[in-house]
Amino acid sequence: MSEKILVIGANGQIGTELVMALRNIHGSDSVIASDINDPGYAIRHSGPYELVNVLDKDNLHHIFDKHRPTQVYLLAAILSAVGEQKPKIAWDLNMTGLLHILDFAVEFKTAKVFWPSSIAVFGPNSPQFHTPQYCVMDPNTVYGFSKLAGERWCEYYFTKHGLDVRSIRYPGLIGWRANPGGGTTDYAVHIFHEALKKGKYQSFLSADTALPMMYMDDAIRATITLMDAPADELTIRSGYNLAGISFTPAQLTAEIQKLMPGFEISYAENDPRQAIADSWPKSIDDGYAQRDWGWKLEYDLADITRDMLTNLKNMI
Ligand code: SER
Repeated sequence: MSEKILVIGANGQIGTELVMALRNIHGSDSVIASDINDPGYAIRHSGPYELVNVLDKDNLHHIFDKHRPTQVYLLAAILSAVGEQKPKIAWDLNMTGLLHILDFAVEFKTAKVFWPSSIAVFGPNSPQFHTPQYCVMDPNTVYGFSKLAGERWCEYYFTKHGLDVRSIRYPGLIGWRANPGGGTTDYAVHIFHEALKKGKYQSFLSADTALPMMYMDDAIRATITLMDAPADELTIRSGYNLAGISFTPAQLTAEIQKLMPGFEISYAENDPRQAIADSWPKSIDDGYAQRDWGWKLEYDLADITRDMLTNLKNMI
């Protein structure tokens, strides 16, 4: 069967890369990119595009009816830092948007749905090191508990409606093609831009704040591998833990300095994102992803640093 894939939130950090990857695999016309804003150059010129607001139920219904997607990726969301400034708006977008998609996927018999979860589902009482798939989860950000509630909804629609929903708890994501949009892990992208532009960067997280991170190429490969996995091999319908690699701003700085010896770092004090980072895991156990769909990481910190600097140098 030929696929018809709808990607909602195509202009975001993940969407920008995922749309191009999916178009390479399935052909341009099979992947409909959509977002609330106009697309960037690459997405506009490589295939179909629809303006979509996930909160506009009538329009969303029309898009499902028009395209009858076999797969939907719902990436539209408000992330952790912005979510704390607009808690109700974040909750509404992250939750109501998901429920619209789950309902329409059932109505239009969409074969598979992907929805991103996050390490933000964990909280201050979750184990901080090698955080397991199943443990205490007491997220204290709106973003975090919207993701945790969303995971419960995904599993619920799988159980009650037989909807084939798949999800990953992404670590912080690092890529050069698109900027992150208001998260706590954004420093690990901004640092590369500022290193190349100014030779220095002020981190909003402290030197020793360890967080799980992943290169976008790995994240896209993980997403597509999970979506291609046979349904009966998946044992988790909430969100799969995905480990990536864990490092601190100081360790990332040292890696950048190997390639840019003059690079200088400083650290801000009292940034509200520090408390968010402190409530999240420092490292993750992703044994289920390894076992169920053969997950294996490719990019380590040195690979990420080299690739980011090489690619961004040509853009800045
Ligand atoms: N990277 C996201 C954030 O920082 C977490 O999923 O909000």
